[in-house]
Amino acid sequence: MLRRATARPGPLLVADLFAGAGVYDFAAAEARKTGEAEAGIGRLLAAAGPLPELVAPLVERVRALDPGGRLYPGSPELARAMLRPCDRLVLVERHPREHAALVARYAGHSGVEARCEDGYRLLARTLPQAGRGAVVLVDPAYELEGEETRTVEALGRAVARQPAAVYLLWYPVLERAQSEAFLGELATCGLGGALRVELGALPDGAACCLTASGMAVLNAPRGLERWLARELPALAALLGVRGPRLVARLTGRPAARRRQPLARSLSGAPR
Ligand SMILES: C[S@@+](CC[C@H](N)C(=O)[O-])C[C@H]1O[C@@H](n2cnc3c(N)ncnc32)[C@H](O)[C@@H]1O
Repeated sequence: MLRRATARPGPLLVADLFAGAGVYDFAAAEARKTGEAEAGIGRLLAAAGPLPELVAPLVERVRALDPGGRLYPGSPELARAMLRPCDRLVLVERHPREHAALVARYAGHSGVEARCEDGYRLLARTLPQAGRGAVVLVDPAYELEGEETRTVEALGRAVARQPAAVYLLWYPVLERAQSEAFLGELATCGLGGALRVELGALPDGAACCLTASGMAVLNAPRGLERWLARELPALAALLGVRGPRLVARLTGRPAARRRQPLARSLSGAPR
């Protein structure tokens, strides 16, 4: 998305509303516990042939950040590396420790601003100048009661206020019915017409943790659907995953009510 957006003339605003720390350490105990890096980025780094266009920039950035392969770029670092001097990156993180890491990392980077705030509130009320040429990443953990409802409501308000921005919303699949219900809520909130793209490490219901990850793209640029549909099978083959892979219009219908947060705890589950 960012490659496409930065290929167009004119300044771009990227708002990363659940930014995290910016960079992660594969050697940290938390990362080692799950082994997810080996099954994901590890396979991409070890791939012999050319990589799918979908992930080539990511792998390039991982190599550039740390040729030793210990550090991994989060969404702020990936965005920062792709933006041009005329662009602006707003990083929002509510946790003081993560926010402090962002401040330390990006101090002195012009065009990058780290805010310690509530991403939902900013999304619903005062998203900075998100008119044409804006990409908004919404990447909550969905661990708290009511987070899905907050997400749908805040997105609804954001789209009403800034209809031209592109919104990227990450969602997990732990229980298929619950994820479909969430997507149904998105679609019935006037946010239909969006794309969804999903890749599953495991078939639905194969484990009691995260089996697949998806992204809903509101205001998807023309051609994205076809491009993703072309790219996804090659990525799935490279990763050797066995779960669902799909690129489709977001045409959710109101489904059975969700009884618990989408993710509860993602620890031990690859994203
Ligand atoms: C899934 S992580 C984000 C990962 C990041 N996008 C990346 O790719 O590296 C979610 C982050 O959102 C933060 N967070 C949770 N609730 C928040 C809120 N209401 N507003 C802003 N940040 C929040 C958490 O502290 C956590 O760092």
